[in-house]
Amino acid sequence: MPKTHQHDTLIIGGGAAGLSLALRLADNCRVAIITKGPSKDGSTYFAQGGVSAVLSEADSFASHINDTLNVGGGLSDINTIRFTVENGPENIRWMQELGVPFSSDIFSSGKRRLHLTREGGHSHRRVVHAADATGKAMSDTLENHARQHHNIEFYEHHLAVDLITTEKQGYNDIENTCIGAYVFNKKTRLVETFSARSVVLATGGASKVYLYTSNPDGSTGDGIAMAWRAGCSVSNMEFNQFHPTCLYHPEAKSFLISEAVRGEGGKLLLPDGQPFMQKFDQRGELAPRDIVARAIDHEMKRLGVPCIYLDISHRSAAFIASHFPTIYQRCKQYGIDITKEPIPVVPAAHYTCGGVNTNLNGRTEISHLYAIGETAHTGLHGSNRMASNSLLECLVFAQSAARDIISRLSEPSHNREISNWDESRVTDSDEDVVISHNWDELRRFMWDYVGIVRTNKRLERAMHRASLLQQEIDEYYSNFRISNDLIELRNLTVVAELIIRSAMKRKESRGLHFSLDYPAVDDSTASENTVLKPQHKSVTEKIKIIK
Ligand code: FAD
Ligand code: SIN
Repeated sequence: MPKTHQHDTLIIGGGAAGLSLALRLADNCRVAIITKGPSKDGSTYFAQGGVSAVLSEADSFASHINDTLNVGGGLSDINTIRFTVENGPENIRWMQELGVPFSSDIFSSGKRRLHLTREGGHSHRRVVHAADATGKAMSDTLENHARQHHNIEFYEHHLAVDLITTEKQGYNDIENTCIGAYVFNKKTRLVETFSARSVVLATGGASKVYLYTSNPDGSTGDGIAMAWRAGCSVSNMEFNQFHPTCLYHPEAKSFLISEAVRGEGGKLLLPDGQPFMQKFDQRGELAPRDIVARAIDHEMKRLGVPCIYLDISHRSAAFIASHFPTIYQRCKQYGIDITKEPIPVVPAAHYTCGGVNTNLNGRTEISHLYAIGETAHTGLHGSNRMASNSLLECLVFAQSAARDIISRLSEPSHNREISNWDESRVTDSDEDVVISHNWDELRRFMWDYVGIVRTNKRLERAMHRASLLQQEIDEYYSNFRISNDLIELRNLTVVAELIIRSAMKRKESRGLHFSLDYPAVDDSTASENTVLKPQHKSVTEKIKIIK
């Protein structure tokens, strides 16, 4: 008999958003954190550059707000930006109090001050970092604290399959409320029921929908797909960010070369050693990411070359080794000495700017369901995210969601009986190869047709393929016992369709969405987000639940 679990708050995801939320909640309620792999399997652990916040006297909230607005290309929400920026310094101090070892300068007087680096779009130095392994430093510290708290339970290798809502369970006497999730225990291969007063999606992004990505394997948009199936609207899914510089090497899967390398003077070069960024933007290497990635894509296609180069070798070897120890070591493993030679790089899918619509407390449209971190669409990023604003958003919205969840603990709880997951009508699959083929096909056509440069025709082709895949996967899902790969593929297919549909709706080029058929910005659509609302009724499509 599969287990059932009950907590005050169920947090799906153990990245910066999920872990910091758990710590903010744990003195007030019992929390479960589930992660689909071992802990530290999300993007957070791999974050390099840092966290943006106004911390120097030369900087100001107004400047951080302005930079974020500019990079967002007219689609960001000013209230969300202000809220995020103004709560930044306090969250950095909280991280310091917890013991995150951020890099600092030490003066002859013995005084220390946080070292602030620069990245694209920022008009000041405002990125706090732990050398080039900021995410690891944050994850390690947050997790160490969370592991020691008696009110936090970790469930690793647990994959949330779908949300449990009162509507899906047939309770129509109350407003649709999220009361838990069905979770696949990857060790026992059984689906367990987690019930909670509040459920939080902190499941990260969906960049794995593309063939080449800087993200870890688990970035399959599960939270976005689960929320969509449960009845939440999503916004701005067409804006998938491509990071300009991932290491180009046959053995280097998904390794990022931080934007901070350009922030500290790294130059982008063509194979013949010529710089080219000034041709595209006067900010050169520190133009926002959409511009730099498109410029690289343009030059690679124009010259028919597989990569371009990033050169930091004019800085001293000591500077490089101390500021970028992870990048230096990793490149060295592949025979590239970055203190002496340029690094071969290519753009790769990096960040999902769109997501599940929330308010400033992380509340979604379903009662007691929250979304925070990369899964959410808060209105901060608009059509393009500014570097290092993501970890900031994770921390700030974890804090506000925690306040909101705590404030509702005294409300009466919706104690309803939940049906067990029923697998009596499914069998074991005898052809798992269908899943791996479909994974490959999906990620390749998304890269080819819905990538950095789009056209109407490419989007139509992609939509046709996505619809066929969706039918095939739905059928497979109804007939066979679930597995990790099937669940992720099912979610990726939903996300792919949301990205394509959103891209088709936007008849202009703005931020991260560039169409050869509509190459200009259409000012009449300024501040119009692409909102998709589910048409289906929020029921679990497959009749696996019985009362
Ligand atoms: P993640 O850290 O991605 O965590 C997601 C969690 O959800 C994981 O624990 C995963 O197991 C869990 N999960 C997902 N689906 C399920 C499911 N179905 N069931 C159970 N658990 C599930 N941003 C910055 O601001 N600064 C940077 O320097 C920076 N550098 C980056 C470098 C790299 C290489 C990458 C990939 C991203 C970088 N970003 C950076 C972006 C930033 O790291 C992410 O946006 C951010 O860490 C997302 O945090 P999160 O908590 O929302 O999700
Ligand atoms: C990087 O270090 O280049 C990543 C920063 C980010 O994605 O914000």
